[in-house]
Amino acid sequence: MTRTAVYPGSFDPVTLGHLDILDRSTLIFDRVIVAVLENPGKEPLFTAQERVQLLSAAVGSNPRVEVDTFNGLTVDYARKVGAQALVRGLRAISDFESEFQMALMNRRLAPEIHTVFLMTSFSNVFVSSTLIKEVCRYGGSIEELVPPATAAAMARKLGPRRPKRGGE
Ligand code: PNS
Repeated sequence: MTRTAVYPGSFDPVTLGHLDILDRSTLIFDRVIVAVLENPGKEPLFTAQERVQLLSAAVGSNPRVEVDTFNGLTVDYARKVGAQALVRGLRAISDFESEFQMALMNRRLAPEIHTVFLMTSFSNVFVSSTLIKEVCRYGGSIEELVPPATAAAMARKLGPRRPKRGGE
């Protein structure tokens, strides 16, 4: 049996934290479909097509990974592609409450689909698409937190960054 997982999200844009979770999920599943929610509630910075392009560029040619878009319920998409699991990344306690709620709601909707939480690496604990957009919008450096194509696309959308100063 092919073990298939869907890794759903807004991916607006993809970060190194997402890639970390994706890498870990390919160690467990034969096939991982990164599923980009086309119309997230909040207005995205990148169109669905742009988010798919940035993800595809970051993933490269990993035969276990596919990138797709979806609308509607994640569990409906997961059923459509024959997935047994949903993958979500956990960074910190703060993620837990909403992820727990979402996982239980998804289980109620589709008891046969299991949510698997993977821990991000320590270096990505503070990385989120929302923070990255905010830092970039005000001229801060985000180059070490996102894949190169994403950094370039953000510079095109939001303007050039200041060179990095100090830090860890
Ligand atoms: O990257 P995000 O924004 O944290 O991803 C959230 C996402 C896309 C996984 C979630 O909003 C979602 O699953 N949306 C699809 C609609 C849905 O299934 N809602 C019910 C979840 S309980």
